[in-house]
Amino acid sequence: MNGSKREAVVVAYGRSACCKARKGGLSGTNPIDYAGQVLRGVLERIPSLPPDRIEDVILGCAMPVKHMDYNAARLIARRAGLPDTVPGQTINRFCSSGLQSIASAANAIIAGAMDCVVAGGAESMTLCFAPHPAEYQNQWLLSNDEGTYMSMGETAERVADRYELSREEMDLMAVESHRKAYQAQCQGKLAPSILPVQSAEGRVITEDEGIRPETSMESLAGLKPCFRPGGRITAATSSQTTDAAAFAVIMEAKLARTLGLPPLARFVGFAVAGCEAQVMGLGPIYAVPKVMAKTGLTVEDMDVIELNEAFAAQAIACMSDLNLPVEKVNPYGGAIALGHPMGATGTVLTGKALDYLKDTGGHYGLITMCIGGGMGAAGIFERLN
Ligand SMILES: CC(C)(COP(=O)(O)OP(=O)(O)OC[C@H]1O[C@@H](n2cnc3c(N)ncnc32)[C@H](O)[C@@H]1OP(=O)(O)O)[C@@H](O)C(=O)NCCC(=O)NCCS
Repeated sequence: MNGSKREAVVVAYGRSACCKARKGGLSGTNPIDYAGQVLRGVLERIPSLPPDRIEDVILGCAMPVKHMDYNAARLIARRAGLPDTVPGQTINRFCSSGLQSIASAANAIIAGAMDCVVAGGAESMTLCFAPHPAEYQNQWLLSNDEGTYMSMGETAERVADRYELSREEMDLMAVESHRKAYQAQCQGKLAPSILPVQSAEGRVITEDEGIRPETSMESLAGLKPCFRPGGRITAATSSQTTDAAAFAVIMEAKLARTLGLPPLARFVGFAVAGCEAQVMGLGPIYAVPKVMAKTGLTVEDMDVIELNEAFAAQAIACMSDLNLPVEKVNPYGGAIALGHPMGATGTVLTGKALDYLKDTGGHYGLITMCIGGGMGAAGIFERLN
């Protein structure tokens, strides 16, 4: 590390298990309760950090309504037992919110504005996920900008149309996602990131719930399209709706040394880009080249690529246009199998990439996802320990 330049490093991270929305283990639990437990659990991984050194908690949340309204970042910080002096801000860049929170923390640290920030995300898709109510939609946008309020499933159908994707190739991605996730789960590769969380019913939850090991081309062939009559996107080729929370502690590298905390990874760079809203799934195609140009790295330099599988259609299109090597993408499975707790996903995927780099001795990880409304985000981390 360069001695004079300020660097942002990750010193701890962790997440809840990804639980099925509405029918899973956290569906009866207030998200402030499980997110508070995850935040507490991450801090317990670094007991030498005095909590009053935390200068902000930045929380990504894609649906900051109902239980997640009222500045959920501060509510979660309070629920985790952080001192009064620790502030909190809730941010929203939809599905990239949990990566944006890390990037915002890292950039504040690099700029010298702060030295230690907790960043993460939380989502209760059970309680808060719903279409934007018609009465709040802007009339001008409805008349002039077709993609603005389009359902995410319809945007995936449009990508499938544009790239002439077959039902079979999307089903195959779903089969692979479940196969890789199940293998990773059986080999204990998902466990290091997971912090036990107690549900409102008193159950301690430690395992991701979405993986269906029996998934096969035959079992998927009979599923009906769920977003457009005669369409090609099914429940199995869509990311699952999920309840989860994830946090990471981001710190200036010299402070980490002073506190005796080994830096796990260095924040290398981050970029966001806009694209057509009605094919929002193509966002990574614009964000990935941008982050590579900013950092001077290339896709070939990456040892792992976490590409959020919002839908198989958009993930296939992005892999094809970006020329991503299949063996480097989502080696522990993707959101089709593990779920996509929207605001938490960016932090979940960052931890997943860092776990994989540690397991394999790799160096660079790319995290990228599409974003509702027509955007893409991409972040790069370098493993250090
Ligand atoms: C697609 C969607 C509507 C499906 O919702 P759901 O009906 O609750 O989904 P489920 O995962 O429970 O699957 C429904 C059924 O499909 C079938 N199915 C789903 N995945 C399957 C698989 N891998 N193998 C076999 N059958 C499968 C099953 O019959 C299942 O019913 P069951 O759980 O009772 O067995 C929902 O997952 C969704 O909205 N996803 C996208 C979320 C989104 O937009 N996120 C933002 C992205 S930008």
